[in-house]
Amino acid sequence: MSHENAVLYRDFIADSLYGSAAAATSSVENSRQTSQPYFDKSQLVVSPPSIDFGALEGQKAWTEKLTEAYAIEGEGWTTPVELFKPHYAGALATHLLQTRDPTVPLAVIEFGGGNGTCARGILDHVQKVAPSVYKDMSYSIVDISPAMQARCQSVTEAHPAACRLVRASALAWHERVEGPCHVVAMEMLDNMPHDKVVWSPEEGWREVVLVPKQQQEGDQEEALTGERWTEVKRAVKDALITRALELWLETNPEPTLSMWQKLRGERSVSIWLPTSTLSFLEVCRDRLPQAKLLLGDFDELPSSVQGVMGPIVQRRDGKGGYLEFETVLVEHGTCDIFFPTDFEALRHMHKQVCQRESAVVKSRVFFETYANVGATATASGYNPMLEDYKNTSFLVTASDDLEDGELETV
Ligand SMILES: C[S@@+](CC[C@H](N)C(=O)[O-])C[C@H]1O[C@@H](n2cnc3c(N)ncnc32)[C@H](O)[C@@H]1O
Repeated sequence: MSHENAVLYRDFIADSLYGSAAAATSSVENSRQTSQPYFDKSQLVVSPPSIDFGALEGQKAWTEKLTEAYAIEGEGWTTPVELFKPHYAGALATHLLQTRDPTVPLAVIEFGGGNGTCARGILDHVQKVAPSVYKDMSYSIVDISPAMQARCQSVTEAHPAACRLVRASALAWHERVEGPCHVVAMEMLDNMPHDKVVWSPEEGWREVVLVPKQQQEGDQEEALTGERWTEVKRAVKDALITRALELWLETNPEPTLSMWQKLRGERSVSIWLPTSTLSFLEVCRDRLPQAKLLLGDFDELPSSVQGVMGPIVQRRDGKGGYLEFETVLVEHGTCDIFFPTDFEALRHMHKQVCQRESAVVKSRVFFETYANVGATATASGYNPMLEDYKNTSFLVTASDDLEDGELETV
């Protein structure tokens, strides 16, 4: 069956989060009625005031602070970079200083820079502890969102010689850097659009595309989802999905249906493939061949959408809480859509694509290695930077400073 206007999930998600320029097809744009993508809204990543951790009694006082930080008006939410500022970025800076190539100026490209808080913290830290490195370092903050870019102005004003802003998608990064450099991305992979594939014992692997309902033909196999779109399964033919699925299967077993799944009437297994993350790694390979990667993100999430590595689809409810959805096919631009990262699959993809080894570590291990952990300890000794956010990990490209396996504690 051919569907002229079939849309891949990654294009649907890209359009909803970032607008039509980010999606590879205009079909998705023509099928919607609203125009503001999610990441064009201002005040998305909220920057709460810095916290004096030593003045907090312990875990309870921290939880209250956290509740305050999340009880923010509008669409906003916050991130560990913001909550633990400047210490979180200070740890990233220490890692960069320890793993840089001392024969060339330190060059950092941060994708998905958000408010610029991470950049600010890294630049301030290097300026303070390694002025000779700071003097000729360069730092590019790259973000796809104009609203985010506007909020980074103060960083370039504070570090005019070192820092510049680039409005671009990480997936369309064109500048080539031949020499050693560092790629930093915190909580960007989670917003990378994914694709959905389905496996069943009868049909094997199929890719899922979306067809506007008004063009629906008579013989759809899949239940209707969303108001305007129907999911349709077809043979896997998209080149990026094909590559991502092959790599995925090299670190994950072929799925099976358990007896319980069969008894519940389930006939297939859905998997959300990190296709845009694969594109991002291919960009790193092609444009930044000597880049060392430092990628931090969620390794697990309580997904609201069914399927392996399914996303959370949510928006603020206007009363300090969140509304969650069981489908990605929500009204355009109204929700955040974010996925967990399978870090073992990421490490494998990175190795295959960039031909480089990397280590995957839980955030706690990373911070115990690189952070001034005393700065985020509360009076009772409870340390939220080490003990909260247990569902986050880092991928770091191996370097001479990291003994093989030294950071391999997942
Ligand atoms: C969850 S926020 C994280 C912001 C910041 N890194 C932090 O940890 O506070 C994700 C950021 O990534 C940006 N982003 C998402 N996809 C992107 C892409 N393809 N290219 C560049 N930036 C992207 C968004 O605009 C947003 O600023």
